[in-house]
Amino acid sequence: MPDPGAARTEGAGRTVFVTGAAGGLGRSFAVGFAQRGYQVAVADLNSEGAAETAELVRAEGARAWSGAVDVTDPVSATDAAAAVAEFGGGRIDVLVNNAAMYANVTRSPLEDIDPDEWDRVMAVNLKGPWLMVRAASPHLPEGARVVNMSSATIYSGSEQWLHYVASKGGVIAMTRVMAKELGRRGITVNAIAPGFTLTEASYGLMSDAENYGVDRGALRRASQPEDIVGAALFLASSDSSFISGQTIVVDGGRQFI
Ligand SMILES: NC(=O)c1ccc[n+]([C@@H]2O[C@H](COP(=O)([O-])OP(=O)(O)OC[C@H]3O[C@@H](n4cnc5c(N)ncnc54)[C@H](O)[C@@H]3O)[C@@H](O)[C@H]2O)c1
Repeated sequence: MPDPGAARTEGAGRTVFVTGAAGGLGRSFAVGFAQRGYQVAVADLNSEGAAETAELVRAEGARAWSGAVDVTDPVSATDAAAAVAEFGGGRIDVLVNNAAMYANVTRSPLEDIDPDEWDRVMAVNLKGPWLMVRAASPHLPEGARVVNMSSATIYSGSEQWLHYVASKGGVIAMTRVMAKELGRRGITVNAIAPGFTLTEASYGLMSDAENYGVDRGALRRASQPEDIVGAALFLASSDSSFISGQTIVVDGGRQFI
């Protein structure tokens, strides 16, 4: 019989650092890890939102740290990683690279994308995860885990979103190189590619968000933030210790890759 208390202690003594955790999926990851007994550090450009997430983590009975980070800024990334490592007693066991520009990325034909917005999207969504792994690297012990957030949109090639889709495709490519380099130290690096998920940001994208894509998914229902959390918990757990460089699509069976 599975031990019902085991899940609670899975993260005991381990520290997870979730970026972009002022709300949305980042907040759901933070609470999900807290429920598994991890101590949880969260950071975001929006430090007030991150502090609110930390309160939710504490409400689950877990230790929490929150702060500000701009993942595009090497100094900010380094400072945040150092502060989280201190919170974690000198180590960061799991890094979830969740921060991104998402619903605020303009949808337009490729001819009309503003080159400055292109640069900004790449800076946050692609350079950001690299800078965070670079900053966290000295604090990642053997057996540590990195989880990068991609998107299932790269498989459908969503029109009029070239910069966002390209940035998330880059995350998958980057995950493979990181897996090889950090694998030498026993660290796994994987990506999650969620389908359209009903975060607050997603509701801002369209009027009929609840129904978007539901008829094309095997499970015929919309994705909630909590639907994505299990994949991150699995990739952080000992159950996935021999899985690296992979991308898990979590979309209720919409894209088959
Ligand atoms: N919601 C979806 O349908 C969906 C689908 C596929 C992938 N994703 C990915 O999941 C992640 C979370 O999505 P979400 O729906 O919760 O969106 P969200 O906009 O709520 O979360 C993104 C967070 O990143 C933060 N952020 C932005 N720029 C930052 C920076 N420079 N430094 C630090 N933090 C910064 C934002 O403040 C925000 O809190 C993103 O990587 C997104 O691309 C979302």
